Amino acid sequence: MTDEAPTLRKQVYTVLRYSDPSLAGRHWRAVHLLVLGIGLMAVILLSMDELSPPYPTILRQVIWVVTVIFLLEYLVRLWAAPETPRFAHHSSLRARLNWALSVEGLIGVLAIVPAIMLAGGYVITGADTASVFCILWIMKFGVHAPAFSTLARVISNERAPIASILILFVIVLMLAATAAHMLERVSQPQQFGSLPNAMWWAVVTLTTTGYGDVVPVTAGGRIIGSLLMIAGITVLALMTGVLATGFAQEERRREYLRVWDQVARVPIFAALGIVTLSEIVGKLRTRYYPARVTIVRRGDPGDSMFFISSGEVEVRLPTGSSVRLTDGAFFGEMALLERQPRSASVATTKPTTLLVLYASDFYEIASHIPALAEAVEIEARRRREENLGRQAAETKR
Ligand code: CMP
Repeated sequence: MTDEAPTLRKQVYTVLRYSDPSLAGRHWRAVHLLVLGIGLMAVILLSMDELSPPYPTILRQVIWVVTVIFLLEYLVRLWAAPETPRFAHHSSLRARLNWALSVEGLIGVLAIVPAIMLAGGYVITGADTASVFCILWIMKFGVHAPAFSTLARVISNERAPIASILILFVIVLMLAATAAHMLERVSQPQQFGSLPNAMWWAVVTLTTTGYGDVVPVTAGGRIIGSLLMIAGITVLALMTGVLATGFAQEERRREYLRVWDQVARVPIFAALGIVTLSEIVGKLRTRYYPARVTIVRRGDPGDSMFFISSGEVEVRLPTGSSVRLTDGAFFGEMALLERQPRSASVATTKPTTLLVLYASDFYEIASHIPALAEAVEIEARRRREENLGRQAAETKR
């Protein structure tokens, strides 16, 4: 083995990661989505029996190309699997086996099953076969959804309230089905004669679907039906509330961890004690910007200040000159301190990660932590004097 092999493998692994923020990673994901979209479109069109030649042949060729791309992708991912951090202590073979058996690996296999079927002489003939392709490929969309892991965490965190709501759902369902069965079975033996039949009506009503294929006709049955519809809305609202709060809490927790990682790179926070720091971390937000994006425009009202965790920005001063700020520096403080519009425009010169502090949080922190406020004020004063000096030099010329 040469020394370069692991390096190349690591690079390939990094770019193929679905969360890779680099340009190459984003380009790869865009191409992958495009190929997936073209493949699915070809499968959907091929299921139409009224297609006249030569379109079916062209579509089959498109499907072939997409399948081969997925096969290559699978092989490359399998090769790069030992770079996965969670398999770091495994041998290469073990890591590849683990990856192949992971959800991502299995979805990868499912996406190339059509290739194997085609190679084995199985020909795409009609709508049925085409729809099987479609189902297998659509699963690859799932790996592009970063919120899937968050959803799993939310369901796990909120399992107690979710279970309670589901139990409530079953209790209401059974009570309503039994009541409707007793009230309606004489007038509609076909629809309400047995509990399973009455339960079908109860599920359709409780979920507020209401096909209208089974409808209570007695006064008592209609009262039960009305109550059931109201209960259905309540149960759905409860579930929505639990999931929405769970998502918000999970996102806040993740953001807190992201900020902890970044905050250590900003010297102004380094001297603070752990308690003070944790208070500030709760108020900061991370923002990723590509190169050449304007973050602050001169003359705009100031509603936040920024700390550079990594990257570089250029401050374009009104005099025409510019100043570059890099890792650990901050900007946007002057508008907050002086309650004036932005004194300069600030834009990124390369991909940059910033920590944002909103004005209301800035004023609150400034009142709690005078040392921090003072450090920011001293730098703002220095910048103001520097700008006045530059302005004076400019007018003299
Ligand atoms: P603000 O006025 O809110 O928005 C523009 C920001 O540019 C300003 O806050 C400062 O943070 C920053 N800035 C202005 N002048 C200078 C300077 N001379 N050196 C570094 N940064 C500056």
